[in-house]
Amino acid sequence: MRISVIGAGYLGLVTSVSLAQIGHNVVGLEPDRDRAEQLKNGLLPLYEPGLKGLMKTNMNEERLSFTHDRTQALNDTDVIYIAVETPLLSNGRVDLTAVEQASIDIATTISQPVIVVIKSTVPLGTLTNIEKLMKKHTKIPFQMVINPDFSRQGNAVHDTFYGDRIVLGAVNDQAANVVEEINIPFQIPIFKTDISSAEIIKYASNAFLATKISFINDIARLCENAGANIDDVAFAIGLDDRIGRKFLGAGLGYGASFFPHEVAGIEQAAENVDYRSSLLESVLRVNNNQHSVFMKKAKEVMDGEFLGKKVALLGLSRKPKTDDVRGAISIRIANYLLDLGANVTAFDPKAIPNAMKVLPEEIEFASTIEEALIDADVAFIMTDWDQFKDLPLSKYEELMNRARIIDGRNCYPLDYVRNYKIEYHSFGRPPVWIEEESELKQ
Ligand SMILES: NC(=O)c1ccc[n+]([C@@H]2O[C@H](COP(=O)([O-])OP(=O)(O)OC[C@H]3O[C@@H](n4cnc5c(N)ncnc54)[C@H](O)[C@@H]3O)[C@@H](O)[C@H]2O)c1
Repeated sequence: MRISVIGAGYLGLVTSVSLAQIGHNVVGLEPDRDRAEQLKNGLLPLYEPGLKGLMKTNMNEERLSFTHDRTQALNDTDVIYIAVETPLLSNGRVDLTAVEQASIDIATTISQPVIVVIKSTVPLGTLTNIEKLMKKHTKIPFQMVINPDFSRQGNAVHDTFYGDRIVLGAVNDQAANVVEEINIPFQIPIFKTDISSAEIIKYASNAFLATKISFINDIARLCENAGANIDDVAFAIGLDDRIGRKFLGAGLGYGASFFPHEVAGIEQAAENVDYRSSLLESVLRVNNNQHSVFMKKAKEVMDGEFLGKKVALLGLSRKPKTDDVRGAISIRIANYLLDLGANVTAFDPKAIPNAMKVLPEEIEFASTIEEALIDADVAFIMTDWDQFKDLPLSKYEELMNRARIIDGRNCYPLDYVRNYKIEYHSFGRPPVWIEEESELKQ
């Protein structure tokens, strides 16, 4: 089976590499000549754990190649995966320009019947529109299959090989069977359904997870008002296996992942079929409010005094184990801190090069966590990288001008923090104060 993958970004590369790894011959299309050249030399233009080694192995074994030449990639192939970006527009709608362009590229390039597999996350109804668009540009028959991707950025390689299910949506059983055949070596349960159901499965799965996160953040605010501890509350409610412990971590919310895009997508889908989800509107509202809750807390802690203060901003990527900063809450917070007159020094294990492209030049970047903390008046934890969780808390005491942490990800257990002279504020849990400075030590 000859397979081509359009899009050599996070999803496209994981898709190409993993399909090659299970034995298929795969060509990845990367229109940018320099980036294609980089890939041909085995250089990964992004960070995704485990991907680089697998990419090299499959290139060496000649199952995987990359080209910038559309004709070479699409003209002589059986199955074409579309894995291009579908960003969220400022009006909250999903931008389908790249998916539409990729479909036109396919329609105007193919010389024989193909199966087109949509892997990008698209709103309900997109496949029908894409099919119509392609038919305008080609008389060659093609079949469409939707194969939504459930992998988590930062764990995408693991999730692709050890996922819970592979979902395929198609009108044509024969096309679905071909894509099923391609996926059998993953040894993951494959579920075939109609196109609309497959589109909704992807959105509904992520909207459900987003709902759990907004739910626990709502309860965290209740805990703060009531003087309770969200760690205990989440632990105990998670023991009920109808609820489960996962996705019950309070903090800055999911703004740093794909969920806003997907919750917005289901709202867009709901609009298209004349249904409005008041539940998901609330999920979005709670989440969008989390960074304001964080900044309100930060202003209270700092008595509104940010002018000339050094803030160590720990974590820039939208979640741990990725260098992706698209939609990251840290970017918004960094800009906000600059507006308040703070001196911001940021550190991230992987995302600094990408953050530098989008942050103003007044932001300083540190090459280690320790460098970011030196003489800082406060540390903001924005991403729960293991490097931050594993940092001995004594470092905050030793290095900072004042050992004060505002933790947007609840990285440290309160009992652990209480062993140090650190002022510590987190979500849904009582603050920990330094004894000499306050009688409020918990
Ligand atoms: N990143 C993830 O872990 C992940 C997980 C699940 C789903 N998704 C979904 O996957 C899709 C892609 O996301 P991403 O993060 O990989 O985006 P990305 O921006 O990293 O990659 C998109 C790539 O497609 C390329 N591209 C765009 N138009 C093209 C065309 N006409 N021909 C060839 N290449 C083209 C771009 O140059 C870019 O390299 C989105 O719909 C996203 O919601 C991503």
